[in-house]
Amino acid sequence: MADSHLIDIESLPTPVLRALIARARALAEGDRPRPIDRPVANLFLEPSTRTRVSFELAARRLGMDVINLEPAHSSTCKGESLYDTAATLAAMGVAALVLRLTDSTELDRLHRAMPTGICLLNAGDGTRAHPSQALLDAATLEQAGIDWRGAAVALIGDIRHSRVANSDIALFRRLGVGEIRIAGPEPYLPAPDPSPWIRRCPDLGSAIDQATVIVCLRVQRERIEADRLPDPEQFHRKWGLTVDALERYAPNAWVLHPGPVNRGVEMSADLVEHPRSLISAQVRMGVFMRMAIFEHWLTP
Ligand code: CP
Repeated sequence: MADSHLIDIESLPTPVLRALIARARALAEGDRPRPIDRPVANLFLEPSTRTRVSFELAARRLGMDVINLEPAHSSTCKGESLYDTAATLAAMGVAALVLRLTDSTELDRLHRAMPTGICLLNAGDGTRAHPSQALLDAATLEQAGIDWRGAAVALIGDIRHSRVANSDIALFRRLGVGEIRIAGPEPYLPAPDPSPWIRRCPDLGSAIDQATVIVCLRVQRERIEADRLPDPEQFHRKWGLTVDALERYAPNAWVLHPGPVNRGVEMSADLVEHPRSLISAQVRMGVFMRMAIFEHWLTP
């Protein structure tokens, strides 16, 4: 069943996406959470601060026990497959495995042969998908008052290697966004997209001009060969969002960044706490969105 696990935005029906966003917003406004009396396990095979901590806090707020599997101290480092790890957890009554991976094919392999009794929640797989991040981004924007139909969303920076960009674009489209623009250094843009609703812009100014939302994206250094990495100062001069550029081209835009932010590279340091920045709101909403995700997948 498409909805048994959280893998990506594309495999979820639009009513489910809308219900998750509405539920996260309701929880943020004080709705009582639905308790869950089963444990969850986190296994992060790539570094994480926001996603791992917010899944853990969300689980604790629902009354769940949380098991944090450390890759270096679990049997994955002795060659145990992800399937056998998931089956072992399922046999112990663990309700969900929150999994972050570098390799999307590993997630697909596990998803195709997932043991029964345990739910797989994708916490980011390689360059492909980060569905809970896109959902919390949408909930944050709805809480700020976005009207999707009239909205122009500009994604700036390393789009090609960004699982957040992929999931944001897929979700915002489902929600009826007016326009998506992308801009960044040519090697970090996806192959030309035939979709008329994604506009490639040649520079920062044209991408953010009168935009409703600007999503700044970190250069995914860990996925780019060292000799192809941009010089951070040059990158910032051409593609970094600054207060001046924001005030000049899009003074009413909301500024998002999934984090972690490299201040002074993809955005100027003073933009992180700028009044138009929703970065802290995104982080706060992350906990409520992960509570909504646990409720959706783990309660009747
Ligand atoms: N946004 C995000 O995935 O951040 P972390 O890598 O810190 O989890």
